[in-house]
This record gives sequence, structure tokens and C-alpha cells, in this order.
Amino acid sequence: MAERKILRMGNPILREIAKPIKEFNTPQLSQLIEDMKDTMIANDGVGLAAIQIGILKRVIIFGFEESSRYPQSPAIPLTVLINPTFKILEAESESGWEGCLSIPGMRGLVPRFKKIRYSGYDLLGTKITRDVSDFHARVFQHELDHLDGLLYVDKIENHANFGFTQELELANTY
Ligand code: NI
Repeated sequence: MAERKILRMGNPILREIAKPIKEFNTPQLSQLIEDMKDTMIANDGVGLAAIQIGILKRVIIFGFEESSRYPQSPAIPLTVLINPTFKILEAESESGWEGCLSIPGMRGLVPRFKKIRYSGYDLLGTKITRDVSDFHARVFQHELDHLDGLLYVDKIENHANFGFTQELELANTY
């Protein structure tokens, strides 16, 4: 178990497309997931994609009981999703503030689908499917984007709603 270094925006690896996992329940996959959990928790994150620690595999984790980064957000069970996909349950989008461990100290207002059904596999290859909404759906969509080389900044509609967290708080924007 080890905390790994998180790549920051500007590192070209974050713009690559991650590859699907073909073999489940391997020691390497188990180690990757443990390292991702350690890294996410050490940085007080609510989600992390393997690509953020430089591993181009389609593995994401997310979840928290309480987050100092998102104090108003309800808990999400700690979830590992391998080869994740989703379906849109309602076409409606909702804008919300997002940050990213690869873009420290900043926040942006990003539209996301409000209700989705996501699927993926756990370490053992067992399928997981959940219908989720609001912040849970947002976190999933943010992490999935990482696997396709996308960052939340790509989806900000108005860059007046993007900035340093401390400044946004001072201005009561955020
Ligand atoms: Ni992120």
C-alpha cells in the first residue's frame, strides 16, 4: 500500500485514453486499487482515476463519508469501478462546482447529467450497476471523463465561473 504522486494538469498523460482491464483479480490490479485508495484518502479527495497516478487503465474509485473539500455533499459509499460505463436516465443537466486533485486549489462550475445508471466491475470481476443522481452522478461523470483524457475545465461553459477556491469563497461565488 502506498500513496502515489498525482499528475497535474499540463502533464500530457492526463490527455491520453485509458485502456480496458481484461484480467480481473490479479495482484497488479489489487495493488493498483489499494494505491489509488491510499492516494485519494491521503489527499482528501472524493474520487480518483488510475490515469491521475500515471496508469492508463480504465479504473476509477470514488466515495467518502465526510469530505472537507465538499462539506455539504452527502456521503457516497466507497466504490471501485473497472471498465465503467453509464446510461443517461434523464436528459436534464445540472450545473455544480467541481474540483480535481490534478488541478489543486481551483474550482469550476460544470454541467452534468443529473440522473444516470452506471455500471462497471469490481476487482473480482463482479458487475456493479447503480442508479444515482446529483453529486454521486457528478462524481462518476467527472472520474469517467479522466479515462478519456478529459478534465472538468474542458466542460466549463462560462469561465467567469472558474477560479481559485479561496477567491471564489471570498467573493461568495462558490
Ligand atoms: Ni479529477
